[in-house]
Amino acid sequence: MKEITKNMKKNKTFYVTTPIYYTNAPIHLGGAYTTIAADVLARWHRLLGEEVFFLTGTDEHGQKIQEIAEKNNEKPKEFVDKIVSDFKKAFQLLDISNDNFIRTTDSFHIEEVQDLLNILYKKKLIYKGVYESYYCIGCEQYLTLSDLVDGKCPLHNRVPELKKEEAYLFKLSSFQNKLLKLIKSGDYCILPESRRKEILTFIESGLQDVSISRLKEKISWGIELPFDKNHTVWVWPDAFWNYVSGLKQKGEEKFNKFWPANIQLMAKDILRVHATIWPALLLGAGYKLPKTLFVHGYFTIDGQKMSKSLGNVISPIYLAEKYGSESVRYYLMRNIPFGSDGDVSEKALVERYNNELANKLGNLISRVSTLAEKYGIEKAITHTHREDSQNKLIKKLKIKEIEKYFESYEIDKALILIFSFIDACNEYIQNKKPWETHDKKILYEIADSIKAAAILLWPFIPESCEKIAKQFGFEIKYENINKPLKENNIKKGEILFKRIE
Ligand code: MSP
Repeated sequence: MKEITKNMKKNKTFYVTTPIYYTNAPIHLGGAYTTIAADVLARWHRLLGEEVFFLTGTDEHGQKIQEIAEKNNEKPKEFVDKIVSDFKKAFQLLDISNDNFIRTTDSFHIEEVQDLLNILYKKKLIYKGVYESYYCIGCEQYLTLSDLVDGKCPLHNRVPELKKEEAYLFKLSSFQNKLLKLIKSGDYCILPESRRKEILTFIESGLQDVSISRLKEKISWGIELPFDKNHTVWVWPDAFWNYVSGLKQKGEEKFNKFWPANIQLMAKDILRVHATIWPALLLGAGYKLPKTLFVHGYFTIDGQKMSKSLGNVISPIYLAEKYGSESVRYYLMRNIPFGSDGDVSEKALVERYNNELANKLGNLISRVSTLAEKYGIEKAITHTHREDSQNKLIKKLKIKEIEKYFESYEIDKALILIFSFIDACNEYIQNKKPWETHDKKILYEIADSIKAAAILLWPFIPESCEKIAKQFGFEIKYENINKPLKENNIKKGEILFKRIE
């Protein structure tokens, strides 16, 4: 498996971001989904030996949050502080390995946004005017009449406000041709392809200049415009800049090393702004563009949109506390093809947990470790050809395909292939019956294969894979997939995944 070492590119960097989440409500399963996917990618690239920066955080300004804090009789900052601590707890619970957690209320971020606005203002890319448009507070976005369904925002089922006010506008229109060129050439890559087409059609229909400020007397919960104290910045330019400030916050050298982002994950609800205003701000201020925007699917719960009024909002904290963080991570990554829409349910989570984690993986580990403790493991002796001494079972592992799937962000397909290797291990043990033969060499082969599977599964279910590594005596390192397992005393351990009845 020479390709393993070939794929381990030292000194390569990988910067992955999630959207920063609104702090009007506690984290829901949608945000957890994007963050888990980003975590899997971050861990995969770390496993390959790359230097990784993984950024997530919270989007804390704007009308929506100002209003909800007022309703709760709280100061906005006090209100968001509590929500942010919930987000952080949830990410810890879900084993999220982010390198920074950016908050748009961090003073560092605020200064960075003000610097950006000053640059754009000096370049005359921001000018004063009057802006009239429909605004959906749910989206915190301006909508055109053609976006409305029965006069309402289809995503939030709410009638948008018609706003006409003095505002500062950003010359988005002047970036139309440049953006079209960058997206068409793939320099600014939008995936999946269907989303790229959708965005090209949208931009071709014409980009209008967009208001980037709100009157402070109306929206005070925002960053002040550095050149006009009567206005605050619209929440989107503020939010976008997290991807820059979140890196710079950890030191200028981090920025130089990791910018531009390799991949930015999000769902379709926020693609349009990410494919237009965000790159235009960067181009305007003289920054390189991120390489790829990846739009993953939007999911429903039991066939319905997740919403408070339907009472079907599932909290990832609830699920992780009830079934363990890894069942949530595994289920979300396995259940929906990455990039497509899908449905999730608690029942399906339990089924996958029982059938795949408990039955397939958990049983394999428990069987092999029990037998290995009893009879020991022994590496086969090398014959004339090197090939002969190699583990036959491990040849069933489709490592190249798994790597390819990761490269094309088909995370669910990579996971399916890893699990089909676990199936192969289960079949092998079933056929060879080491509990009857007490064959140490067969047990070695399977233990060695478990090592490979656990290393590859680590990005998805890190805690269990680390336990397996300890139990079977290896380290989670990519090059160890190809290095034969050292003969060691394997002990029967605790049950990794207890069945849920
Ligand atoms: N604050 C903005 C983003 C600013 S980024 C510069 C925002 N926040 S949000 O809290 O509404 O998060 C939206 C994101 O959450 C989606 O783009 C997606 O990543 C995730 N999801 C929310 N609901 C989801 C589903 N039902 N399904 C999948 N992902 C979902 O928009």
